[in-house]
This record gives sequence, C-alpha cells and structure tokens, in this order.
Amino acid sequence: MERFSIIVGDITQSDAEAIVNAANTSLLGGSGVDGAIHRAAGPALLSECRGLGGCETGKAKLTHGYNLRARYVLHTPGPVWQGGGLGEPALLASCYRSCLTLAAEHGIRSVDFPSISTGIYGYPLPLAATVALKAIMDFLAEHDLPERVRMVCHTEAAAEVYRQTWNLWYAGDRDDRMR
Ligand code: APR
Repeated sequence: MERFSIIVGDITQSDAEAIVNAANTSLLGGSGVDGAIHRAAGPALLSECRGLGGCETGKAKLTHGYNLRARYVLHTPGPVWQGGGLGEPALLASCYRSCLTLAAEHGIRSVDFPSISTGIYGYPLPLAATVALKAIMDFLAEHDLPERVRMVCHTEAAAEVYRQTWNLWYAGDRDDRMR
C-alpha cells in the first residue's frame, strides 16, 4: 500500500505535515527523539507543551512545530517495556491510533512516526514493529486521512526489522494476515 512506507532518516528533518514525538507523560522534553525534536523546534515548543498538562500513556496531544519543517508535532508517550504482560502492546497500538486519529481530525495529510518505545523505553523492536504496523494499517484501511504515513527509522538496522515485519504480514496476498 503506497500510503505507507518505511524510511531511514532523522525525523527532525522530516517534510511531513506532522511528525510524532516519542514523548513522556510530562510532555516537558527528554532525551532520544524527544530531545532531538525539542532542540530542532526551539524553546517555543516547550512553552506550548507546558500549557498542555501532560499526556497519558497511549494518548496524544498536538502542538505547532515552530522551527521544524513539520507544521505540527503529535506528542505521544509510549509504554515502558516491562516484559509484555502489563498491557504494553495495547498501549503501544493506542499511541499510533491516537496520533492518526488526531491527525485526521485536524485534516493533516502526512504523518511521520519514529519507532515509539523502542529506545529508552526498551520495547523489543520486532514486537513493537508488529504492533505498530498493524495499528497503522488497520487505521489506514478505515480512514482517508492521513494520505501518507511513514515510519522513520533512525538506523538501517531498525528499518530492516520493520521491512521484514512488513513482508511477514503484509507482502503478497497471504490469507493468514494478522486479523
Ligand atoms: N529520528 C528518528 N528516530 C529517532 C531519532 C531521530 N532523530 N532519535 C532517536 N530515534 C529513534 C530511536 O532509535 C528509537 O528507535 O526513536 C526511537 C524511540 O527512542 P526514544 O527516543 O528513546 O523514545 P522511547 O523509547 O519512546 O522513550 C521515550 O525517552 O527521550 C525520552 O522523554 C522521552 O521519557 C521519554 C523516553
């Protein structure tokens, strides 16, 4: 499905209308992609975030992008990996769905995601990729917006995991696709 693609890059350089920030529940910045986005957007982003009152894990909040090329930032706190038995998959899926829902509600036509929770929050990449791809593809099958969604992996190795996961579940006409 050409509406979705997997690329390697630095999400702070993205030309998408909105980029997603793998945030924490305070929304007051951090390291990883959160730190990179705040550095690239400038201090006005933190000022706007201060007024949002934080964000629950799995939910999403929208801000402007300021000095970023992206017009908007969708902030979503992913789950911390604790072994997989404490609702992490459902919370991770909710991050993707919440961001896409908010984007569609605002008429946003292109959204770039980082690989949420797979850095500091320790979510194993192959497991996160399976959840992320299903959440994205299920949403796109039911909605006309966004028109374009990309997974922006910071490394080729991460992109390879996403591509292999994609091929496992979505390439060809497998009749045993993930339901
Ligand atoms: N562009 C794209 N992807 C990036 C970039 C970047 N510039 N920088 C990091 N990444 C990737 C990481 O390689 C990882 O695959 O983003 C993914 C998410 O990693 P983290 O940024 O560590 O986010 P996460 O695991 O969700 O942890 C969130 O980290 O930065 C803090 O405030 C944040 O407390 C929160 C926690």
